[in-house]
Amino acid sequence: MKKKKVYVFDAYGTLFDIDASCRNLSEKLRVDWHSLSTVWRQKQLEYSWLRNSMNSYISFWDITKNALDFALHSKGIHNNSLRQELLDSYFEIECYPEVYSFLEKLKIGNNTTCILSNGSYDMLNAAVRNSSLTNILDDVLSVDLCKKFKPATEVYELVLNKYPENENEFLFFSSNCWDIHGASNFGFKSVWVNRFNRVNDILPGNPDFIVKSLLEFQTNHL
Ligand code: LAC
Repeated sequence: MKKKKVYVFDAYGTLFDIDASCRNLSEKLRVDWHSLSTVWRQKQLEYSWLRNSMNSYISFWDITKNALDFALHSKGIHNNSLRQELLDSYFEIECYPEVYSFLEKLKIGNNTTCILSNGSYDMLNAAVRNSSLTNILDDVLSVDLCKKFKPATEVYELVLNKYPENENEFLFFSSNCWDIHGASNFGFKSVWVNRFNRVNDILPGNPDFIVKSLLEFQTNHL
């Protein structure tokens, strides 16, 4: 039977709970875990954009380590074993509660489901395995393949290269507003999963749908 549509998902913050690492270790952290998690994430993104501009690619895992070191330093935390625990927990990251049933519904509907992420394959494969998503995802596409980070067009092109026969049948989901603008500007229909109640960015491209969770999209649009 012909597959209907390709549903493409950003990983961190969209399928996987980026705050889980710091939250799970909140008792050991002597600082506000949420503030540490926010600085870690913000630096992770900034470093990916800056390295794109500098033509200085390293894997997202190395960027994640550099960003954590910055965040720990900025909070005055110098504790190697805690640092290691935070890094290890990134490999045991959990998905958001509605993710499994949403992907399952798409799969039952004979759609293709795929991750497109800055994450390196080792990070993504561990996250997918840990959340038991292996059997309901068709593909995982990592920027390891093009050595550029989102929102570089080379990244969104990975989807077209993988599914050349499905032109105009893509729907891209991200909780990262800038990623939605990147994908939309590239030409994908897009769904901004605005989990964190942010304001829309003023950038090229625009979301076709805005929802608070995948469940809201499932309820209103599937
Ligand atoms: C990703 C980050 C940007 O998964 O959330 O690509």
